[in-house]
Amino acid sequence: MPDTDAVKEAKQFHVDVPMKTPGFFLRGAGALDWGMKNRLARVFSPASGRTVMLAVDHGYFQGPTTGLERIDLNIVPLAPFADALMLTRGILRTTIPPAVNKPIVMRASGGPSILKELSNEEIAVDMEDAIRMNVSAVAIQVFIGGEFETRSVHNMTRLVDQGMRYGIPVMAVTAVGREMVRDAKYFRLACRICAELGAHFVKTYYVAEDFETVTASCPVPIVMAGGKKIPELNALTMAYNAVQGGASGVDMGRNIFQSDDPIAMIKAVSRVVHKDMKPAEAFDLYQTLRDKRKTQE
Ligand code: R5P
Repeated sequence: MPDTDAVKEAKQFHVDVPMKTPGFFLRGAGALDWGMKNRLARVFSPASGRTVMLAVDHGYFQGPTTGLERIDLNIVPLAPFADALMLTRGILRTTIPPAVNKPIVMRASGGPSILKELSNEEIAVDMEDAIRMNVSAVAIQVFIGGEFETRSVHNMTRLVDQGMRYGIPVMAVTAVGREMVRDAKYFRLACRICAELGAHFVKTYYVAEDFETVTASCPVPIVMAGGKKIPELNALTMAYNAVQGGASGVDMGRNIFQSDDPIAMIKAVSRVVHKDMKPAEAFDLYQTLRDKRKTQE
């Protein structure tokens, strides 16, 4: 029945309050559709604009990596402290309880094992299956300068096309071959190509010199890859320098799950990323949490 009380009606319509049209907090994402933005806002914290993704997808090309032998025992307990989990569909379906309510960034490329040429990848997940698993984004390796460079770029652009159709963001992972120089010049090239060809965010390595030119010249968010295990203080320093250099967070694996105390480490990384905690202070926090847990055992 129509409301005949004109005063009440005027109140409910708040005619004197202009509707807000806020922008979006992530670089390069302003022109994306609602579903895409909503998924990105699950991966990246709208409060800090950053993310701590826990990467445990290593098995897709190197089998049971140290620390990932039993994901049910070693990784599931870490999930509450991560902003998002990066993993394969096989691990998600077999090992991650559906009640673990964390955004999933799903590894969507694969093919060769460590015994073969790694750049020879194909798309390894159908977008329909990714949607069925309620992913927040998909991830694909791009081998700029690699033997199968064009194939890997084409895999990415196909995945971006599929992602655009359904509102699923694509994270491009810049892979570095053994023979390639890991410097800012290379990462500027690789990250920019990924963004130009449609990636919604890019995972790349930190370099001590000129990292800020890599983030500045990439029009989408960059998350820092962890790399091989280094001492905790060094890993915290690297994460700190990366976010201070313009990275929108980290996607770390071995430096968290191979740490002496993975829970203490991910908590310390999270403070560095979301709260700009200095490396020395974050390392103190790591040690305190680790020692406390040891005394409880
Ligand atoms: C690297 O290309 C893959 O995405 C890895 O499997 C993983 O994400 C690497 O993580 P991390 O280097 O931090 O152990």
